[in-house]
Amino acid sequence: MQVSGKKIVVLGTGGTIAGTSAQAGDNIGYTAAQVGVAQLLAAVPGLQALAGGALVAEQVAQIDSKDMDDGVWRALALRCRQHLNDPEVRGLVITHGTDTLEETAWFLQEMLEAHKPVVLTCAMRPATALTPDGPQNLLDAVAVVQAPGAAGVMVVAAGEVHGARYVQKAHPYRVHAFHSGDAGPLGWVEEGRVRLAQNWPLPQDVYDLVAIEKIVSATDWPWVEVVVSHAGATSRGVDALVRDGVQGLVVACTGNGTIHHALEAALLRAQNAGVRVVRSTRCPEGQVLPKPGDVFPDSQGLSPVKARVALVLDLLRAG
Ligand code: SIN
Repeated sequence: MQVSGKKIVVLGTGGTIAGTSAQAGDNIGYTAAQVGVAQLLAAVPGLQALAGGALVAEQVAQIDSKDMDDGVWRALALRCRQHLNDPEVRGLVITHGTDTLEETAWFLQEMLEAHKPVVLTCAMRPATALTPDGPQNLLDAVAVVQAPGAAGVMVVAAGEVHGARYVQKAHPYRVHAFHSGDAGPLGWVEEGRVRLAQNWPLPQDVYDLVAIEKIVSATDWPWVEVVVSHAGATSRGVDALVRDGVQGLVVACTGNGTIHHALEAALLRAQNAGVRVVRSTRCPEGQVLPKPGDVFPDSQGLSPVKARVALVLDLLRAG
């Protein structure tokens, strides 16, 4: 779709970027998701001017992103799709908590035909901090939306632009909390200018709109859990999940997709009983390299939490 409009819609979902604490110096004892997105935007000097007065705020949710759920994802996907189809809209910014930001980014990457930019941004420090990082991240996110040729689902934080596929929260405290592992960032935002190191991400080839309707209208999404292979792993957790009706299991494997023999036995029983099993790796970088004779498919480079999102959507599509 041709980009003709100027409007930049900022969809608020909560997070630390909208968090407040009783004391300005307190960067950890705060409550996330307190400030409305319109108020957040109004508090950033020069933001509306940077966007040519075309910023529009819309509150989709107001949560700590550790509590992200299917309902918010559904609402967010629908609002994104509606705005992306509006010729007046140049692109979207989504304010989000850092904790599950990468999962939402991957969910949207799989759901949207994002020929326009969809930029998730966040903050590690609350809005009330002595030096909050949210305002600069918002300015940078708007700069990315306005960059020529920008498209696809991205994350902007701490001056870096990341693609949805590889971005991961890698630090629980530092302002520079995200990385894209081996892939590296797509680029950087420097004084309002985007310097690309890679091409803009390609929009996902969206399977078909009926499938999207199916996904957003399904009231019960498939139950998919992540299990970890570790020293001393047993079969009991997986056996209990299968008894309770789990439909998919993503295994955060050791190294190149290896699994403790006790856990592996349970996973084989699960797979034989019709549960979808997918292997990812616990290693923060790299991906499982498949080899002949593998019993379980691998996640094609997706981290365990993103592989869970992909499996949920796959099961929904197939259902
Ligand atoms: C959250 O993820 O909503 C809280 C933590 C954060 O945004 O850094």
